[in-house]
Amino acid sequence: MSSRRQQSLDQGSELEALVREPCRVRHFRKDHPVPRADVERMVEFARCAVTPCDSQAWRFIAVRDRELLDGMLRIVLERFEQLALLPGLALREKERAMARAQALVFAKAPLCIAVVTMPSDSLAERLMEAAGLTPEEHERLCVRPELQSAGAAVQLLATAAHAMGYGACWSCAAILAGERLEELLGITPPARLVALVPIGRPAERAEAPSRRPLEEVLSLR
Ligand SMILES: Cc1cc2nc3c(=O)[nH]c(=O)nc-3n(C[C@H](O)[C@H](O)[C@H](O)COP(=O)(O)O)c2cc1C
Repeated sequence: MSSRRQQSLDQGSELEALVREPCRVRHFRKDHPVPRADVERMVEFARCAVTPCDSQAWRFIAVRDRELLDGMLRIVLERFEQLALLPGLALREKERAMARAQALVFAKAPLCIAVVTMPSDSLAERLMEAAGLTPEEHERLCVRPELQSAGAAVQLLATAAHAMGYGACWSCAAILAGERLEELLGITPPARLVALVPIGRPAERAEAPSRRPLEEVLSLR
């Protein structure tokens, strides 16, 4: 490793501060739109994420149009109204309210980046198909490469946004209304909407995340 790269991971480095103290917020300043150049810069970073066979099978839809965001919001609200009518969910009011609050976060920022994945054609997937695995075996062995790649891209996207002074919130709860959101955003199968990332200047102090001790999460063998 070059000494310059080594330094970028040293204690007290900017990279360390970005990773350890990310700006994860759920309230954003509405009076500060995100300029197009900033959106492009963030997505430039996100597209550096790794993908199987270099498929780069994700797309980003940056929504800044308030009317479109309001349309998405209505769809999610309607979905939660529908869910409340389902026999299994009618009484689970508290959980529904919590999930609803989580789902609505995407509409609070001046920018929401919709993250879309396409099925990626990995060698392992092709082998599993040819091997004629049962659906259960496939379910057990499939590592959802397209979702893993989207996760890597979202992490880079949020980190780039933080580096530029923005706050972001990785959110997926609104995907409960995925089909209608996809319709509105013009996403057609097999592409799939997998996350919504609201981004804007923070209107609250980001809480420093607490992390499990290293010895608890790392085992050396
Ligand atoms: C895959 C995934 C989905 C998430 N979905 C939501 C969501 O829908 N709404 C929400 O408010 N937070 C959601 N979060 C959590 C926030 O993005 C944020 O990371 C968390 O609240 C801050 O916790 P941390 O500081 O421990 O990372 C999600 C996080 C991940 C990784």
